Amino acid sequence: MQKATKMAQPFVRQYNPDTDYESMLEVFHECIGDNLKFEPAWTISAYCWCIPYLLLSPSTCFVLDDSNGKAVGYILGVPDTTVFIKRWRQYYIPKLDEAKMPRPDIADDDDEAWALNWEDDPVGSLLKVLWGPERVMGLKGVDELIRNHSGHLHIDILPDFQRRGYGGKLMTALLIKLQDLNAIGCHIVLPAANTDACRFYGRYGFHVYEGSMNDGGTGEPGMLKDGSICLVQKF
Ligand SMILES: CC(C)(COP(=O)(O)OP(=O)(O)OC[C@H]1O[C@@H](n2cnc3c(N)ncnc32)[C@H](O)[C@@H]1OP(=O)(O)O)[C@@H](O)C(=O)NCCC(=O)NCCS
Repeated sequence: MQKATKMAQPFVRQYNPDTDYESMLEVFHECIGDNLKFEPAWTISAYCWCIPYLLLSPSTCFVLDDSNGKAVGYILGVPDTTVFIKRWRQYYIPKLDEAKMPRPDIADDDDEAWALNWEDDPVGSLLKVLWGPERVMGLKGVDELIRNHSGHLHIDILPDFQRRGYGGKLMTALLIKLQDLNAIGCHIVLPAANTDACRFYGRYGFHVYEGSMNDGGTGEPGMLKDGSICLVQKF
């Protein structure tokens, strides 16, 4: 009788900047919303939501390895969003190619013009994320939220590897790491329409933020004016 051979299973490991960078971008691009699948949104979105984490905080990035060394999913996080934003401004913004990704021509104090509008102006909204991280990631005016839920994260898994429990493994790896680094808690901002992801996060201790979203909010708990929802958990 032939012996059944056990297939190697995908597993979670630390991000390796030398070998994983390109596959991380592939995962990112496979998972972005259809509304951003055109140039230049395709390119700029990676500079907003993937590349800064790989460059500025590689030790808090984890990979789902397909068991052959290729990243087929990831979780990117930071323990302290305020520190991350400072590093973004200090080290990341000066390296951006301004010809390809111009700074929005908006005065610093024009809050209304800095507001995101994904429906009518996706590229403009991406450039605002890129050049105004304090406003977007810092969720301007919601100091309490950032103070009590200092970390944040992004997770994406290629379709063939979704719904097999790997998301949970990535979440566990990052949440342990953030707690080891003394994060006070964590927040996630995602499109409210992504109800599958909201349910997924609920299983790992996240709930809708009940506090005030100030100028970014709609009045409904956790809801931002751009259609995003903010989920939180305290450690
Ligand atoms: C959201 C996401 C990270 C979740 O990761 P995941 O690995 O698919 O999640 P899990 O497998 O741990 O759980 C998700 C579902 O699979 C089911 N599941 C978990 N293990 C399973 C298994 N062994 N067999 C079958 N189903 C399983 C869960 O019950 C859950 O289903 P439910 O929500 O209908 O109850 C992933 O699906 C993803 O990357 N989606 C696309 C991009 C995205 O939305 N990213 C988040 C943006 S904020």
